[in-house]
Amino acid sequence: MIELPVKYLKKGMVMSQSLYNASGANYLAKGTLLTERYISKLKQVGVTGINVTSLDTEHVLEPPEEILQEKTRAVAVKRVYDMFTQVVRDGRFDTAPLYKASAAIINDIMDRRMNLVQLTDIRTHDMYTFAHSVNVAMLCALIGVLIGLDSHRLSNLTFGALLHDLGKIKVPTSVLNKKGRLTDTEFSIVKTHSMQGFELIESMDIPDKHEIALVARQHHEHMDGKGYPDGRAGEAISLYGRIGAIADVYDALTSARPYKKGYPPSVAYNIMKNFSPGHFDDKLLNMFFRNVAIYPVGTIAELSIGYGIVEECKFGRTDRPVFLVFADKKARPLSKPVKIDLYSEKRVNITSVLKDMELFHFVRQLGFDPATLLIGQQSASEIEQPAAAKAVAADTRRRMMSM
Ligand SMILES: [Fe+2]
Repeated sequence: MIELPVKYLKKGMVMSQSLYNASGANYLAKGTLLTERYISKLKQVGVTGINVTSLDTEHVLEPPEEILQEKTRAVAVKRVYDMFTQVVRDGRFDTAPLYKASAAIINDIMDRRMNLVQLTDIRTHDMYTFAHSVNVAMLCALIGVLIGLDSHRLSNLTFGALLHDLGKIKVPTSVLNKKGRLTDTEFSIVKTHSMQGFELIESMDIPDKHEIALVARQHHEHMDGKGYPDGRAGEAISLYGRIGAIADVYDALTSARPYKKGYPPSVAYNIMKNFSPGHFDDKLLNMFFRNVAIYPVGTIAELSIGYGIVEECKFGRTDRPVFLVFADKKARPLSKPVKIDLYSEKRVNITSVLKDMELFHFVRQLGFDPATLLIGQQSASEIEQPAAAKAVAADTRRRMMSM
């Protein structure tokens, strides 16, 4: 997968991200085969770059399956958008459609025995908060499932996560959408959103609202007590708040904004694991990263022995994936790619991950896109569901049926 400036897009490339318009509708879905018409439309609407599965225009390389179905994500983004709009207008919102979206997210996580979480959707500027809310809900639900929350708490956590940034409606858009550094005053205004969101949810007639509102209030608390708004530390922060903090930061780091590219998951991993002491609940963080593709399938990296592409990323060993090594250290293609599982081959290390333009030039120099080596291959990684998860899945499905 590679993020390309629009000017380099070619007919026959496959989109590996979806694009949403300002009202939350999905206008170009992941997996779309680019045509001249689509490319000129992308230029027209001012999109600067998008992710494609490969530079190769001869072969169709499908994007990796994600944990959320395309429809679940698109509907949920739209529901969050509707909810924000309604709250601004009426001070309340219809809970049923959002509960449905929340249950669908949980259902996908339970049901789709598939690849590790690979978050790849791109958002337009206005849609950021809504798409972010859905990703945070998905990641919260995933962590909730991994630690075996019962269906009732899982539902409250996921629903609360969809609402976690609701307080942003009280922050002036000029501050919220400001490009570049915020002044101290502006930052203190942004920081009010967690408490504002909490108070908004508390003022509504929603079952379990005290529990649901905790995600909004506590997702910026740090384990060492240096977060906000209350400066709570350790387990004085609710489980919902500690889970929400991980989901929120991971998605913020990996997603693209108008003024920055998203970091690859490997960089987010490094920042959250090694450069954020005291911020996160370590036990939850370790469990999270054992279940997120730190090096997603298709990642091209320089290894200590040459260049390789990730063929498979297994649960529990996401930091040491299986590579197909296709070139030597001088980037000369091997006659046949060699499969190396870094988990068992401890002497081989990842030196760096090639990204975007670096990758673009590398592929050109190489003469073929290593992504084509993955054509026809399916990653077999599956979520190891805790024993309790099946019962939760059944219960969630029942709830959905009754809505
Ligand atoms: Fe937030």
